[in-house]
Amino acid sequence: MKGDGDFRSAEVIKPRNESDIIITNPPFSLFREFFAWLMEANKKFIIIGNKNCITYKEVFPFFKKNKLWIGYGFNGGNAFFKTPYTENFADGVYNRETGLVKFRNVVWITNLDHGRRHKPLPLMTMADNLKFSKHKEIKRKKKYAKYDNNEAIEVPYTDAMPSDYNGIMGAPISFLDKYCPEQFEIMGMCENLDLYKLKTKVYTSEECRKAYFEKFGKQGAYDLNASGVVYKNDLLEKAYQRILIKRKGAKK
Ligand SMILES: C[S@@+](CC[C@H](N)C(=O)[O-])C[C@H]1O[C@@H](n2cnc3c(N)ncnc32)[C@H](O)[C@@H]1O
Repeated sequence: MKGDGDFRSAEVIKPRNESDIIITNPPFSLFREFFAWLMEANKKFIIIGNKNCITYKEVFPFFKKNKLWIGYGFNGGNAFFKTPYTENFADGVYNRETGLVKFRNVVWITNLDHGRRHKPLPLMTMADNLKFSKHKEIKRKKKYAKYDNNEAIEVPYTDAMPSDYNGIMGAPISFLDKYCPEQFEIMGMCENLDLYKLKTKVYTSEECRKAYFEKFGKQGAYDLNASGVVYKNDLLEKAYQRILIKRKGAKK
């Protein structure tokens, strides 16, 4: 190469356009730009990304449309890399014995099909979850919590997804590791802009401030509109980031 190998340079765009499959570990700091470069190429690909990138508004719509998915590997998001630059890493990240550096929350993102994504999750019915779930947030509750600001129910664990619920469910981001498109449909995300038209309420600034004060006992900003919101002990509480899904073929 004559240039510096920047993926945006004509020298790198040329082999991109001539390739069949793009496989790389791109710079995370330029992920949005790299992702646009990748999708514009319209090729098969398998790349490494941080789990957070799934929720970017530039990326998530492709997951929703089943244009890409999580690949197979990096158990629990843990990835081990060999690098000559070991002095940059703290002990605990760099293991002197193995010579490997450990990264967390790493996923493969790909549009190459693989068998694991067609394996439906074994799930219990809603009634059985409420009776037998191993999660204290579900077990012995009368029902699943419903969001105050969209029509879904809150399901804090992928394995607590009720198999017989026909409405929309808010699932953890890690659900996508287990997502089988024959079993579920991705409807959208809990997010600020109502990109997926699933919000039933938008809180005023005054309501956000009041909710913060009531929950934390001090002044502060509580951006309720960025998340699904549930009532907990009669107080409004933001749920963690959620993906909104429903059973494949279920009526909305
Ligand atoms: C996550 S690291 C991956 C390194 C190596 N490919 C690997 O898998 O171990 C991302 C790499 O992208 C390089 N990089 C940063 N900006 C870039 C750019 N604009 N074009 C091409 N590569 C870039 C970084 O120097 C870094 O080596």
